[in-house]
Amino acid sequence: LKVTWDVDAAEKGGYEHFMLKEIYEQPKAVADTLTGRLSDDNRAVLPELDWALGMARGIDRIHVVACGTAYHAGMVGRQILERLTRIPVEVEVASEYRYRDPIYTDHTLVLVISQSGETADTLAALREAKARGARVVAVTNVVGSSVAREADDVIITWAGPEIAVASTKAYTTQLVALYLFACYLAQLRGAADPATIEEVLAGLRDLPDAVSKVLDTAPAMKAFAQQFARKESAFFIGRGLDYVAALEGALKLKEISYIHAEAYAAGELKHGTLALIAEGVPVIALATQDHLYEKTVSNIKEVKARDAHVLALTWTGDEEMASVADEVLYLPRVSPWLAPAVVAVPLQLLAYYAAVERGNDVDKPRNLAKSVTVE
Ligand code: G6P
Repeated sequence: LKVTWDVDAAEKGGYEHFMLKEIYEQPKAVADTLTGRLSDDNRAVLPELDWALGMARGIDRIHVVACGTAYHAGMVGRQILERLTRIPVEVEVASEYRYRDPIYTDHTLVLVISQSGETADTLAALREAKARGARVVAVTNVVGSSVAREADDVIITWAGPEIAVASTKAYTTQLVALYLFACYLAQLRGAADPATIEEVLAGLRDLPDAVSKVLDTAPAMKAFAQQFARKESAFFIGRGLDYVAALEGALKLKEISYIHAEAYAAGELKHGTLALIAEGVPVIALATQDHLYEKTVSNIKEVKARDAHVLALTWTGDEEMASVADEVLYLPRVSPWLAPAVVAVPLQLLAYYAAVERGNDVDKPRNLAKSVTVE
C-alpha cells in the first residue's frame, strides 16, 4: 500500500497552513454563529440567555475582560454596547483587571471573552467578578470550557476548532456574538437607538456574504506583502472603530511576521508618533468610519507629507482616496458598525503573506502559545 497523502496535509484541507484555512472559513463561521439568532422580524434572539426584563434593565455598568485578540473584540463590543444601551462600559486586559480592585455596583455585568475558555488570567478575572457578586456572561468558542462552566450565561461562537496560534475566525465570530448581545440587551431595555439596532441586524444578515467577498482581496494583499515583508516596522492608523481594527491588524502582523508594528489613533499621531514617520515607512490607514472620514484623510496627508508609503483601506466607490494614498484597497461596503469584521480579513491576509514571505512558521510563531493556561 502506498500512501500518497499525510494526515497533516489532509487536516489543512488543501491549504498550506491552518491559518489560511481558518481565514477562508470565516464566511461559514460567521454564518454558523448567526444561525437561529436573527428572527424574521429583525430581532436578535439569544435563547441561551432568556433574561428577565427587570434584570436587563437594572444593569448599570459593564466590564469587558479578555486577553489578546479577544480583548480587541471587547473594544469593538464597548462601542456598540454603549451606543445601543447607553450603559457605561469599561474594557480591560484580564491581567490588569484581576489585580486592580475594580469598582462594582450591585448591578454590574461582567463580560468575559475567550476563544479557548481556558486562559488563566481571564478565568481568574471571571472568578474575581463572581466572588464580588457580579453576573458574568462568557463569549467563548469552546463548549464545556472552564470559562463556559463557571459563567452565569454563555454565548457560544460557532467558529469550529481554531488551530493556528494567531486568531482569525474566532475573532470575527466574537464580534458577531457581541453585536448580537448588544442588540439583545438594547431590545430588552427599550432601545435608545432603534435605527442603529436595525442597521446592525440587517448588516449581520449580510455579513457572511461581505466576508466572502472581501476574501477576494487575497491576491492584492499577497502582492503588497511581498514588498512589505522586507520592512522592519509598520504603523496602522485609524479613528473610532478603525482604531480598534488597527490594533488587531498590528497584533496579527507582530505575532506571525515579527515585523514591529504599532497601531495609533490617527488623531494622536501628532502627539509623538509622527516623529517616527520617515521616507518609505509603511502606514496602513483605515478609513471605514464615514463620520470620521475627512479627519482620517487629513491624518493620511500628514504622514504622506513625511514621505510614508500609505496603503489605505476604504469602501468601494471612494473616489477621493486614490489621490491621497499610494495604494488603495477597496472593501465591499457594510454598515460602519460592522466594518471591523470586514477590515480584519485583509489585515489577516497581509500578516499571513508577510510571514510566509519571511519564511516564518506561520501556524506556530516563536514564543507564543494558542492558549495560555499558566501565569
Ligand atoms: C493567546 C493567543 C491569542 C489569544 C489570547 C487569548 O495569547 O496566542 O491569539 O487572543 O491567548 O486567548 P483566548 O483563548 O482567551 O481567547
